[in-house]
Amino acid sequence: MKRKILLCMFVGLASIFTAQAAVNSDDDIKSRIAPVGKVHIAGAKAETASAGGPRSGADVYTKSCVACHSSGVLGAPKFQDAADWAPRLEKGFDTVWQHAINGFNAMPPRGTCGDCSDDEIKAAIEHMIEGL
Ligand code: HEC
Repeated sequence: MKRKILLCMFVGLASIFTAQAAVNSDDDIKSRIAPVGKVHIAGAKAETASAGGPRSGADVYTKSCVACHSSGVLGAPKFQDAADWAPRLEKGFDTVWQHAINGFNAMPPRGTCGDCSDDEIKAAIEHMIEGL
């Protein structure tokens, strides 16, 4: 009888530990697949990870967009290339901006800048179309 009780306790404990392990590994996976730019500086606002306020369009472009938009990877409209941007801007700036925020075909949401605010994305687009 005593053995059975012990066995029950053991099985009970074992399932608690297994559940715990499953929770931990979910968290582990989440932290492993989190976007690289997602690390926040303590005390900084979640929206603008840098302590110095919103980043400039040029900063965001150089950090997050240049990889695809400088050479036109996967058909990305190239940096300050009027012929590439004109047909896109015909949709209206707000549409293009929303596409950059939410993703659009091969264009990843926020251009992979997970901690960029909507306005920082806007500034990066304005930088890419500046002077066109
Ligand atoms: C992994 C490559 C990649 C990165 C990084 C990337 N883009 Fe793009 N982007 C694309 C591609 C590809 C398209 C064209 C999508 C299409 O038209 O099918 C695109 C299109 C766009 C468009 C036009 C959307 C439209 O409605 O026509 C904007 C605006 C844009 N990107 C902004 C950005 C900004 C801002 C960043 C950086 C914060 C960025 N992209 C980073 C690949 C990228």
